[in-house]
Amino acid sequence: MFIGQKPKQQILEDYSRYVNPGRVSVFKQMGLDFVPGRREGVWLWDIDGRRKLLNCRCSGGVFNLGHRPPLLVKALKTALDEIDIGDHMLLDEMRAELGRRLAQLTPGDIQYSTFSPGGAEAIDVAIKLARGYTQRPGVISVKGGYHGHTGFALATGEDSFRNKFGPMPPGFSKVPFGDAEALAAAVNKETAAVIVETIPATSGMLFPPDDYYPRVRQICDAWHTQFIVDEVQSGLGRTGRMWAIEEWDVVPDILVSGKGLSGALYPMSATCHRPHLDAFFQANPFIHLSSFGGAALGCVTALAMLDQITEPGFMEHVQAMGNRFEDGFAELRSRYEIVAGWRQRGLMIGFELVDARMGPAMSIALAQNGVLAVFANHRPSTIQIMPPLIIQPGEVDFVLEALDRSLDFLTAHPGMLELIPDVGVV
Ligand SMILES: Cc1ncc(COP(=O)(O)O)c(C=O)c1O
Repeated sequence: MFIGQKPKQQILEDYSRYVNPGRVSVFKQMGLDFVPGRREGVWLWDIDGRRKLLNCRCSGGVFNLGHRPPLLVKALKTALDEIDIGDHMLLDEMRAELGRRLAQLTPGDIQYSTFSPGGAEAIDVAIKLARGYTQRPGVISVKGGYHGHTGFALATGEDSFRNKFGPMPPGFSKVPFGDAEALAAAVNKETAAVIVETIPATSGMLFPPDDYYPRVRQICDAWHTQFIVDEVQSGLGRTGRMWAIEEWDVVPDILVSGKGLSGALYPMSATCHRPHLDAFFQANPFIHLSSFGGAALGCVTALAMLDQITEPGFMEHVQAMGNRFEDGFAELRSRYEIVAGWRQRGLMIGFELVDARMGPAMSIALAQNGVLAVFANHRPSTIQIMPPLIIQPGEVDFVLEALDRSLDFLTAHPGMLELIPDVGVV
């Protein structure tokens, strides 16, 4: 009824004329003028039905449960018979229930949730809360991090995304990821917050030294600085744990979730904080408003998603599929010199190639071989492999075979690297 009402060529022309011609030309240049039509589970079909791709991009975790997860579709359809978005100024049963559930599932004594429609807004809320609570201006993020494109979120990010928009708000600075000494030297009595993606995804899935997060916690405690972890990509089972930060047994003051929280059906993100911070919201209960933040229909969808990922065996499945990938990667590395290695927890994978131009080339080659996976924007030598968490063994093997064929192609055609356009895809 909705898919394929117009021929693909017409859609591309309309997109170019009325939405974003620049993107159409970049995707055409890359041979990726793919317009998703039918979508189901791990698969996406081009609108003309000519090819299908196994989705290892997953929009950074939005499609954690695949496309149109049946239990979530059912929950949302049922909810539509009874409720709507709700009025964000009023009290709400669905928000109360999602808040209660997140309090159970988030680390330590994290208790309260503020809901937003997207990840960047949820980061903005975290920074507002930390600044409002501490009454300090300083926010320290890490180089190569990515927290989204709204106001304070953008201010934490890289110049390549910020410097065309004039002066940023004061107080924002950066230190290298994984370097506790540099952080200790940067934090002072003016620092409201330290914000880190637990596993920086746009930098190609980096892992810090073992003692990094415990030391970040100590440094923040020493200065009464709030520690914010961004689990927009790494949370909700992606690493085989509910939250990636659990690996280091550290409780942040604020944890931000998004993407997968939507179940890919209804935009939803959450800024979850510990009780001490709530003094600020209790003194200012209407200081942050969002008409669509915590929409009741989205809460129903998020609750159904949480039900699914807390089913017995779910995290074990993620680990098992991660192990299957790992075995395959080891075998590929033994055969291809252009494989530099990989970084991985569960199904959060950065597959490293020896040359920065190889990431984009690999994205193109993988698409030709039936897999959608993109290079890391801040480290293009890395291909991000983020399949839906529901991926099955045969589908893991399909991805590994596509990698094999693509590595073979790149090894045989090094000249392809000269054709790589300069793109900026996140
Ligand atoms: C780690 C991280 N944080 C925040 C965001 C921003 O989320 P959104 O695009 O929903 O605003 C993203 C988006 O890619 C992200 O990867």
